[in-house]
Amino acid sequence: MNDKEFLKKQYKNILVSELENEKGLNVCQIQINRPNAMNALNIELMGEIAEVLFAVDKNEDFGCSVITGNEKAFAAGADIKEMADANAVEIYYREMFASWDRIRGFKKPFIAAVSGFALGGGCELAMLCDMIVAAKSSKFGQPEVNLGVIPGAGGTQRLTRAVGKARAMEIILTGRMVDADEMYQAGLITKLSDDDKYLNDATAIAKTICTKSPLAVQLAKESILRSFDTTIESGIDFERKNFYLLFASEDKMEGMKAFVEKRKPTWKGK
Ligand code: CAA
Repeated sequence: MNDKEFLKKQYKNILVSELENEKGLNVCQIQINRPNAMNALNIELMGEIAEVLFAVDKNEDFGCSVITGNEKAFAAGADIKEMADANAVEIYYREMFASWDRIRGFKKPFIAAVSGFALGGGCELAMLCDMIVAAKSSKFGQPEVNLGVIPGAGGTQRLTRAVGKARAMEIILTGRMVDADEMYQAGLITKLSDDDKYLNDATAIAKTICTKSPLAVQLAKESILRSFDTTIESGIDFERKNFYLLFASEDKMEGMKAFVEKRKPTWKGK
């Protein structure tokens, strides 16, 4: 499918653009655009991100996406004003995490390019991404305990897996803000960038991914994510099935042939 309607659409809470990549497939950039609310993530906004990532998944011109915010905030959490009056039953029926669950299943990689605050749901959205590139001055945290709740979009699980129990407990139970450098040392962040370079650095990684076999990239992502919810034995079995599956692809034939013939491969994603 090569429908690019989503690029022309005026979304209420995000800006979407296509970044040309002369060396490979293009990158889709999604910018969260609620500057007056510190990019707080309301349900509509998460639906818009899911809609675009789904369209990217289905579009053969794109290989990867970058999700970013502005200098002040990647996102300062789920929209507190949207949740403030809700009781348990209302929040249950609202299915505020439906788009988050959808995004979890998308095949093409997406990278968070973080500057400013990535707090609560903002930190969780960054962790839902496949990598985090962060400006040195950015601040992370799960401050939900300050609001009488806990992280609800995967924070207790993804942060713990990334930085370990000792630090996750301290970060979530105190609700403190954490410098990007500390999160980098702890293993949450892929690349720590100068403040004026974080978006370029994230885009550069995305563009490099876009030069690889799209099918191999997707199956590698799927296999890595599987490591979080399986034993090592089942994970290795899963990886092996995907490895074998790639031997049925034209890209595998082309990639290995190109190596032997000392030339660059031409990928088809097939
Ligand atoms: N939801 C809704 N509105 C928010 C918001 C949020 N998460 N974060 C900031 N805003 C709004 C503020 O209410 C304010 O709006 P008004 O101008 O209309 O008053 C505007 O954005 C600017 O914010 P501040 O004036 O507070 O800016 P600041 O520079 O003084 O502070 C901040 C910045 C430290 C990020 C502060 O805004 C803050 O602490 N935000 C809330 C962070 C938080 O608690 N996040 C967790 C949310 S719950 C959650 O995410 C649950 C989950 O797991 C899914």
